[in-house]
Amino acid sequence: MKENIRLGIVGLGNMGRAHRQNIIDGKVTGIDLSAVCDIPKGLPDQRDGETQFTDVGAMISSGEIDAIHICTPHPSHRDIGVQALKAGLHVLMEKPLAVHKSDCQALIDAYEATGRDKIFAAMFNQRTDPHYKILKEKIDSGETGKVRRIHWSVTDWFRTEYYYALGGWRATWKGEGGGVLLNQCPHNLDLFQWLFGMPEQVTGFLNFGRYHQIEVEDDATLYFRYPDGKNATFITSTGEAPGVNRLEVIAERGTLTVEEGVIRWVRNETEAAIFSETAESGFTKPETTEIEIPIDGRGGQHIEILQNFADAIRNGAALISPAIEGIHSVELANAALLSAWSGATINLPMDAEKYADILNDKAESSTFRKKDIQAAATASPEDFAKSNKT
Ligand SMILES: NC(=O)c1ccc[n+]([C@@H]2O[C@H](COP(=O)([O-])OP(=O)(O)OC[C@H]3O[C@@H](n4cnc5c(N)ncnc54)[C@H](O)[C@@H]3O)[C@@H](O)[C@H]2O)c1
Repeated sequence: MKENIRLGIVGLGNMGRAHRQNIIDGKVTGIDLSAVCDIPKGLPDQRDGETQFTDVGAMISSGEIDAIHICTPHPSHRDIGVQALKAGLHVLMEKPLAVHKSDCQALIDAYEATGRDKIFAAMFNQRTDPHYKILKEKIDSGETGKVRRIHWSVTDWFRTEYYYALGGWRATWKGEGGGVLLNQCPHNLDLFQWLFGMPEQVTGFLNFGRYHQIEVEDDATLYFRYPDGKNATFITSTGEAPGVNRLEVIAERGTLTVEEGVIRWVRNETEAAIFSETAESGFTKPETTEIEIPIDGRGGQHIEILQNFADAIRNGAALISPAIEGIHSVELANAALLSAWSGATINLPMDAEKYADILNDKAESSTFRKKDIQAAATASPEDFAKSNKT
């Protein structure tokens, strides 16, 4: 019987506390929560067997943990992650991997320097969602035929002014490094690249503080162009209610629409391109069949990713979301921002250093003051569970 891994969580805010509670409630096996780290007033009530730290470096070098789960605000992900990897810990990163591509690369370099003998995973919990898992199986198996076009409207990330006023780090260039693309959409952008690969060009049409008193983007329309000529749009906002979450995939074998609880597939009996080449009439279309694939639930989400992390360390399980893949969603978000600032289309791979410099300038020169409600610095668990949707 393999020993449990000794995990330390750094950052006991909304997400860190939720992960801690899942472990305390016995929802994950093979993990002992040995240590937690936050600023003094951020620490939870002390539990037996759980050492409390207020300095993450001390927790990393304490010898009390084998693995760390990094649940701090985005700008700290790089330094804490690199430090932990260098110390020989297994690392689970909260999303996004880092604020910008250059920091992601620093994390990946630190991981490569370990000889890849540690587990380096990311909390892309939406990869466990059967809506996307089933869609991926259909695309990867060739069942859908070649994908020709993609539209994803995910505008149900509605957030209030109150949300942005909570927690000083949110929705500033310095504290978060972006808005909806860096906070809510890493999940969707990760799924986008997981399902369809990386485009070669990104154009971003963004509005900054359109719906809220914030300096970063809360409304985004992204256009992706792929090397095979495929075009895609990705639309998101935190200001539209009720919003939609509708992913439309146009493939040779017809159109698949993924919405809450169902994948609807209007399936071409013959692939569109073959039909076009062989038809003997100008206005005919392939015969179609309408298929409804009911989807039950949203999968294991955070618990499944944490369990997978433990299983990868203890039993060599394949990772659901390797952290090195986290660079892609960050690059898509960075490229969209750079495109909006410059008014140009961005070719990928983008210039990561140039982006880091521009973002740094924005952070350092910002004079924007957003509303700040420090009194209610932590959302209630119910509010958080609702807003987290996953
Ligand atoms: N996977 C998901 O579904 C999901 C959902 C929400 C948030 N997140 C991510 O989780 C991370 C944290 O978000 P949150 O909403 O919990 O933020 P939060 O502000 O509620 O909590 C952050 C905590 O980190 C602590 N902290 C900051 N710097 C620290 C340091 N150097 N050392 C120790 N503690 C430090 C703060 O005191 C605070 O308690 C972010 O990366 C966020 O994007 C992921």
